[in-house]
Amino acid sequence: MTDVAETVLVTGASSGIGKALSEMFAEERSRLVLVARSADLLKALADDLRARFGIETLIIVQDLSQPAAADTVFRQIEQAGWHVDVLVNNAGFGAHGEFKDMAIDRQLAMIELNVCALVHLTHLALPGMVARRRGAILNVGSTAAYQPGPYAAIYFATKAFVLSFSEALWSEVRPHNIVVTCLCPGPTRTNFGSDYKMTESQGFQLAGMEARDVALAGHRALRRGRRTVIPGTMNCLLAFLTRFAPRRLLLWAASKFNRS
Ligand SMILES: NC(=O)c1ccc[n+]([C@@H]2O[C@H](COP(=O)([O-])OP(=O)(O)OC[C@H]3O[C@@H](n4cnc5c(N)ncnc54)[C@H](OP(=O)(O)O)[C@@H]3O)[C@@H](O)[C@H]2O)c1
Repeated sequence: MTDVAETVLVTGASSGIGKALSEMFAEERSRLVLVARSADLLKALADDLRARFGIETLIIVQDLSQPAAADTVFRQIEQAGWHVDVLVNNAGFGAHGEFKDMAIDRQLAMIELNVCALVHLTHLALPGMVARRRGAILNVGSTAAYQPGPYAAIYFATKAFVLSFSEALWSEVRPHNIVVTCLCPGPTRTNFGSDYKMTESQGFQLAGMEARDVALAGHRALRRGRRTVIPGTMNCLLAFLTRFAPRRLLLWAASKFNRS
């Protein structure tokens, strides 16, 4: 075993951006807590990272959209005698379609995962970070945070919450030497794309980034103490333009993108 740098909790570590972020923290020799629902994928990742980097790992198989999931996760970390130095709130999913036609249970589960679990885990992690006067939180938002999204209304709204919450928290916890960074990716080639039916869209084909590049941007921004980061020049430009574009135009563009 090499020296333990810090303990990093990554939600949604089994695939995509979360898996790529887990690899980056493992490269720094951090101890990892890997959380998702897919036990086999988490085990394969943990085995691989232990073999390559000689780090310790703790796997927690948990559906984070369930009530009290965050408590369960933290109880298991405490039982292992660990504490969380870095929290990566990455787990999330999107759903596509007309709000009125989509099953309400699925939409509420999206809010539970993308919003409630993120808030609850953050609330559990912060007291220890404040007491130690060190800590970092990386919340995975989206460029969807910058405008409303017809035909993916709940998903866009959850990501607007993540961005707003993260920026406010960045300001609140700075005096305690804690960094909060919101990573806002645009279309990224992961399993998320297929669930969300984004891989078929023109926008995705044109602008889709690799998960590792997105993760690298998030990891760097966190280490540099940045408040937000949008990976990719085109994504940055589009998010910047949303500040000036009329709301009606934004709604038209998002509607076209989400339906294409
Ligand atoms: N890909 C994009 O285009 C894109 C763009 C902007 C933002 N994002 C955001 O990036 C984050 C990561 O997504 P990704 O693109 O890497 O997609 P992904 O490959 O589908 O990864 C999602 C991760 O979340 C986990 N997860 C899903 N539901 C869960 C639940 N109920 N409980 C616990 N874990 C759960 C999944 O693991 P299990 O299935 O094993 O539980 C998986 O590890 C999400 O927050 C997403 O909103 C993605």
